[in-house]
Order: sequence, then structure tokens, then C-alpha cells
Amino acid sequence: MIKNIHLNRDIAQLILLQRIELLSPFLKRVRKILGRYFFTNFASKYFISPKLIGTKYLAFMLSEYSLLSKNLNFDNKNILSIGGGMCGLELIINSKSKDCFFSIIEKNYISKKITYGWDNQNKEAYNNLKLLEFFLINNGMNKKSFKIYDYDYDYNFDQIPEKKFDFIISLYSLDYHYDFNLYLDYFKKILNKDTRLIFDTIRPDYFKTMFQNIEIIDSMQSTVHKSKRVICSNFIL
Ligand SMILES: C[S@@+](CC[C@H](N)C(=O)[O-])C[C@H]1O[C@@H](n2cnc3c(N)ncnc32)[C@H](O)[C@@H]1O
Repeated sequence: MIKNIHLNRDIAQLILLQRIELLSPFLKRVRKILGRYFFTNFASKYFISPKLIGTKYLAFMLSEYSLLSKNLNFDNKNILSIGGGMCGLELIINSKSKDCFFSIIEKNYISKKITYGWDNQNKEAYNNLKLLEFFLINNGMNKKSFKIYDYDYDYNFDQIPEKKFDFIISLYSLDYHYDFNLYLDYFKKILNKDTRLIFDTIRPDYFKTMFQNIEIIDSMQSTVHKSKRVICSNFIL
């Protein structure tokens, strides 16, 4: 059981950019007055307390875990994480379950001026894959339990794993910030009838033609978009 997480200022900055609910009222004002460029490149790194970000992030991830574990058993599972950010959720799943393996697809840069909308061009990113690996190992994950893939290289050049996954997890990423269809060709290769896909979307009905089962397990009211968290299975395309 993870009681606290170890992180440095660079990692805390990434976490804040990935989980913008962690933004304090003070930083919100700074962003409003001095603009998104200053916020993304300076304030989000130097006007924060890494320790406080770590404590709050862990609390958020424990509550995400608690919701998912009511519905899913993670023991001995092969898990694909898409846009997992600093992967605090994956860290907790790993600490609470037996023998999971995580394949992680993320991006490896920070956009210069982040806006949190629907990204048609698939250009927004806020991660650093070296720091992600360091964070996971430094917080107790065995290097043999995960592999990280860079979307812009590995995905675009077919270097991502084509194997059976029990779960695909993408919180506040796939179909929240960028179109689900970006990954559709890949999903056609890897989804089987038992794979469960967990993600956040404002259009759960859109997926009725793609999946036989769609279960809404939560409704978000305080996030940037008023989304639903869904578990989809029995892919029919
Ligand atoms: C809002 S954050 C959510 C992070 C994490 N899932 C969480 O709940 O804390 C969205 C993440 O998606 C990543 N991302 C953006 N485009 C992506 C893509 N095409 N494939 C994988 N990850 C992507 C970003 O770098 C960012 O870390």
C-alpha cells in the first residue's frame, strides 16, 4: 500500500499540467493575469509546492483506484495505459494487485502554451518519458512490470504491442482531449471480446455502434468537460 509518493519539482510540474484540478486559486489568478505561456513554462514549475502536489495527486489516484476496483479485478492482468500521465493510478494498481504488466503509450514533450480543449490536431502533450520511468521505479514499480512507448515514434511507426489486453485505461485522455478514432485502427487489431476499455467521454452514445456493452460508472460535474466515465466491452466493428 502506497502511503506517500516521491517526486521532484519537474515531476510535480508535469502532474499539475496533467491534472489541472490541482491548480490552486492563486495559480489560477497568475494564469489569468500573466497568460498561458508564462503559466506553462514558469509558474507551473516554480510557484508550486512539490510535496503538496504529491499528497493531493496520491489522494486523487487512490480515489480513481477505489472507483475502478469496485468494478474490476486487476490481478494477473495485461493492461494498456493510453495517456496515463505520470501513471499514479497504474502505480497504485500495481501495488494492490498481483502480477500485472503495463504497456504505457504517452507523449514525450510539453506543449509551449497548453489549452485544455478538444485537440483536433493531436498536438497537446505534457509528459517526459524519462521522468515517467524514473517516477515509477522510484516509487517501487519493478522495471520488469512495465514498458513505455512514445506515441510520436512507436505508435506512428508500428512499434506498439499487438497482443491481448485485459484492460485499456485512458482517464481524461482518449476521447476527452482527442478523438477516439485516432486509435481505432490499432484497436481493431488488439481488441477481443473480453477486453474492457475504460475512458472519459462526453458522448457515450457514440460508442453504441462500436461496443455491445457500455457501462457508465461515473459522471463528472467539476471537470473542464462534463464527461462520463465508461467501461466498454464486446467490440463489434
Ligand atoms: C489530461 S492528461 C491525463 C493524465 C492521466 N490519465 C490522469 O488521469 O492523470 C492527458 C495525457 O494524455 C497525453 N496524451 C496526449 N495525446 C496523446 C496521445 N495521442 N496518445 C497518448 N497520450 C496522449 C498527454 O501527454 C497527457 O499526459
